[in-house]
Amino acid sequence: MTTTGIRLHAPAPGWAIAADVVVVGSGVAGLTAALRCEAAGLTTVVVTKARLDDGSTRWAQGGIAAALGEGDTPEQHLDDTLVAGAGLCDEEAVRILVTEGPDAVRRLIATGAQFDESSEGGLALTREGGHHRRRIAHAGGDATGAEISRALVEAVRARGVRTIENALVLDLLTDADGRTAGVTLHVMGEGQHDGVGAVHAPAVVLATGGMGQVYSATTNPSVSTGDGVALALRAGAEVSDLEFVQFHPTVLFLGPDAEGQQPLVSEAVRGEGAHLVDGEGVRFMQGQHELGELAPRDIVAKGIMRRMQERGAEHMYLDARHFGADMWEHRFPTILAACRAHGIDPVTEPVPVAPAAHYASGGIRTDSHGRTTVPGLYACGEVACTGVHGANRLASNSLLEGLVYAERIAADIAGDPLHARVPAPVPYPEQPAHPLLPPEARFTIQRIMTEGAGVLRSAASLTRAADQLDRLHTEAREALQENGKTAEPGVDTWEATNLLCVARALVGAAAQREETRGCHWREDHPDRDDTTWRRHIVVRLNPDRTLAVHPTETAEFPPTAPFSQPTQRPQEQ
Ligand code: SIN
Repeated sequence: MTTTGIRLHAPAPGWAIAADVVVVGSGVAGLTAALRCEAAGLTTVVVTKARLDDGSTRWAQGGIAAALGEGDTPEQHLDDTLVAGAGLCDEEAVRILVTEGPDAVRRLIATGAQFDESSEGGLALTREGGHHRRRIAHAGGDATGAEISRALVEAVRARGVRTIENALVLDLLTDADGRTAGVTLHVMGEGQHDGVGAVHAPAVVLATGGMGQVYSATTNPSVSTGDGVALALRAGAEVSDLEFVQFHPTVLFLGPDAEGQQPLVSEAVRGEGAHLVDGEGVRFMQGQHELGELAPRDIVAKGIMRRMQERGAEHMYLDARHFGADMWEHRFPTILAACRAHGIDPVTEPVPVAPAAHYASGGIRTDSHGRTTVPGLYACGEVACTGVHGANRLASNSLLEGLVYAERIAADIAGDPLHARVPAPVPYPEQPAHPLLPPEARFTIQRIMTEGAGVLRSAASLTRAADQLDRLHTEAREALQENGKTAEPGVDTWEATNLLCVARALVGAAAQREETRGCHWREDHPDRDDTTWRRHIVVRLNPDRTLAVHPTETAEFPPTAPFSQPTQRPQEQ
């Protein structure tokens, strides 16, 4: 295993601590991994970019899918997941998800998460796109993520897991054999640690969430800048399926120039009977799919986009006036409040909606224990590509994936008899630094990606995007090489640099996939092509900072390099 030898331009660490495991990220995946590692007796440190409850999990509305209802089975959940994944799910990874999922949800409830109950008792379950059954458990009506986050944060605090907030992870530390030895990070705090430091640990779990901020309008919070995928690429890990960006069909439309995080209008609203209509009030999803408005979300997003094009409209409408005030207030209080805050009352008028970037179905490639191709580096949650989602994630499978695979990672680390060996910390490497982009490049990248690699793509739009992104990259590199200049290290410039890294990888993969499949929609290749493209596209960063983008031979991932267990546990400095 070799790393690329590339790291972000940053000061050398001025402080260091040590642990058995460092978990980066504090959503459902990160906090579950941390709680399970701690319970297994591993010294665990959670580092998170903002506050513990500031990640994407908090924003999840619809719920968590699992075969918990009367008559439902893991096999049926598996079937729905495979159909949504459009031929690219790893069936074994999905089987693990659906069979271990129900008990993982019960353990989450035992940890303190309170889900809504039906009037007959037992969990209240709803439907979302692509599910043939009611199997989505929810909390606080439409505030499932917030409740899960609350319960996990409380448990982490109650069990005294060490946490470092306001900490942006920078790069992976590796030893002479290329094994994980910790991370460097930048902390903005007044506490014990401030500025750039290091957490030395033989196992690192990346649970940093998504990359929605690569687009102008997204349901993701501002912290979702692809930091984990960019770090993994610099560390030499393989990432896969990046072209499959899920655009959520129903995001509150706040105008054509709206930027940043946009309010989600959960699929569960359609699950409870809302209709998608055009400006004339015509339901246009009827007849497009046997599930109509509850088709998998790639199909609904395309249906909406097509109707918008036909009508020359900027958005469509979600009509749930028939719910009445009482149902809106009790079942969807978060969405009701968000709509009213923007001057729209769903009780009396249809809600304007349009698709916006929502979820990265791809990410850092892992095996079924969450191991990446770098020994000692694990990934789970949205940042990972376990093979569960294929070309299009089934609604509400993501919280479940975060839970199930985080537990598997903790078991894998805890089962490693070598994790308790005590070694010296690795020295900070003298490696070439990655030139940094100025903060304003973030908006340039978002514009390029929205125009060239959004819902609908073509060879021409992707080539244009690739050229524009390459220009940003080349300008930054030349400025560093020719006159030693780079933007000042800081959160804004590190984030912009990470966004460029993931944007280039995403565009490289999307340009190569000359077909339409799942949430990758090519105007110039409108059909699914199973003969050529029933395989994954894997991206790696080369030491010369070019990207290697190549398809796998088949739909199955080739086996990852044998995972070597960590052999060192560094001591506190
Ligand atoms: C939603 O509530 O529609 C989002 C659920 C998800 O992304 O899985």
